[in-house]
Amino acid sequence: MMFSRIAGTGRYLPEKVLTNFDLEKIVDTTDEWIRTRTGVERRHHVADDETTSDMCVEAAKVAIDDAGIDVSDIDFIVVGTTSPDLIFPNVATLVQHRLGIPPCPAFSLEAACTGFIYALTTADKFIKAGEATCVLVIGAECISKLIDWSDRNTCVLFGDGAGAVIVKPSDEPGIIGTHLGADGQYKDLLYYPAGASKNLEIAGTDDAAIIMQGNEVFKVAVKTLANVATQALESAGIGLSELDWLIPHQANIRIIQATAKRLGMPMDKIILTIQDHGNTSAASVPMALDVSVRDGRVQRGQLVLLEAFGGGFTWGSVLMRY
Ligand code: UT7
Repeated sequence: MMFSRIAGTGRYLPEKVLTNFDLEKIVDTTDEWIRTRTGVERRHHVADDETTSDMCVEAAKVAIDDAGIDVSDIDFIVVGTTSPDLIFPNVATLVQHRLGIPPCPAFSLEAACTGFIYALTTADKFIKAGEATCVLVIGAECISKLIDWSDRNTCVLFGDGAGAVIVKPSDEPGIIGTHLGADGQYKDLLYYPAGASKNLEIAGTDDAAIIMQGNEVFKVAVKTLANVATQALESAGIGLSELDWLIPHQANIRIIQATAKRLGMPMDKIILTIQDHGNTSAASVPMALDVSVRDGRVQRGQLVLLEAFGGGFTWGSVLMRY
């Protein structure tokens, strides 16, 4: 049986850093509240003229270099994002053109914070079906452009960035199992109200900004992320103690701690980037993977569980030997 395996990783964070102390000057908040209620200490934000595809290109270059491949090897591109440069052409085609990748399938998909998990799962399936041999998978977001900067409930949480991986076929796992899910009944708890066919009149106004019932999202997130991890391990017949690392979506340190408690997982086996990145939506898991690979914590052959939860709601996991 053919498996797929991550051959290289990369990330890009915009230059501009906004600390909690910077935010104290913008809205009625404190460093203490943000740190204790969310775990965020700083986040990166794009420059005014910087876009999601700009970040994707930089993250992809690092992953391509890390995998030791040439751009001409790439035969499939999938980007998870909810903040594309344009409605179309999709971000993946913009990245393809900028990097000089030869014609191949290239698309982006929207699954909010679960975007990268959906994209990586897609890559895994196309490789297993024998229809792709070298896939560029990216999770990227420009969430700072979707924020109401007078709403302290949301503006302190989010950051921008991009994480990329190269996925190739392998005789051995690699990716062991993937699980995706969604439940649209929760659509009103977390959403962005302006689109391409609804509420067009508010696009570009202050009303076009992320709306979130934080408390309600929090409760479902904890329950779902614990269930997702259990499902991934049980279906692979792997015990929690065998897992080397859990890399969860970085939305709130308290969500991660509560999930760990439900699972009975020690926090020192969980990769945390929330303090430095904030919630970067679809970029959070691939950036956390890249951080932990580069600092030597995640090593080849180790058992790693990636999981995410986001607007929709959507959720998903990828269990793999790195
Ligand atoms: O990415 C995937 C989806 N997103 C998530 O998973 C996020 C899930 N939700 C959360 O992380 C948390 O619910 C938040 C961080 C958004 C909010 O934390 P919370 O502990 O649930 O706070 P809260 O909304 O219950 O608000 C508690 C208090 C309120 O004041 P009162 O009404 O008690 O006087 C808020 O107005 O905290 C106040 N508050 C703030 N105070 C200072 C809310 N935001 C801030 C702030 N600074 N930035």
